[in-house]
Amino acid sequence: MNEKIAVYPGSFDPITNGHVNLAERALVFFDKIIIAVAYNPNKAALFSVEERVDMIQMATKNDPRITVASFNGLLVEFVEKQGASVIVRGLRALSDFEYEFQMTLMNRKLNRKVDTVFLMTGFKWFYTSSKIIKEAASLGGSVRGLVPEIVHQRLKEKYPLYRNVP
Ligand code: PNS
Repeated sequence: MNEKIAVYPGSFDPITNGHVNLAERALVFFDKIIIAVAYNPNKAALFSVEERVDMIQMATKNDPRITVASFNGLLVEFVEKQGASVIVRGLRALSDFEYEFQMTLMNRKLNRKVDTVFLMTGFKWFYTSSKIIKEAASLGGSVRGLVPEIVHQRLKEKYPLYRNVP
């Protein structure tokens, strides 16, 4: 039987419950989801790629159908190397659309065999993003419940004001 594999790429700096929810929902359509953390030298990150991979592994360890990897270079090349032909991305508000549209068309231009499917972010997580999580946490605001427990704990090591947030 041919396994249906999809790659769910992103920065995941850090992973949120919205991301985890999206990966779980994508498993309705695919046998295996590879969460792929991109090395992006042009984007300053709070967590190293290794730290991000580690947190994602912990947050998804209960489901063996989800695996975690990192990649350098072109996403479509990584997708092909994994034996996949589908990229999964989440869509939140309208503001995501233009960027996602551009990326999808560029990826299609680069490799006609790879296509992108979108899932709407779960209603509960519509206003959650890694960026807003970092902003709140950096100022000492609790993001517990919006991110996996391991992320809540690791944020304490990054932000002095977050250290004592229960
Ligand atoms: O979570 P993000 O930051 O929106 O994810 C963006 C990501 C990692 C999916 C995108 O930057 C990407 O695919 N990077 C790999 C480089 C690449 O293939 N670029 C060409 C397609 S636009």
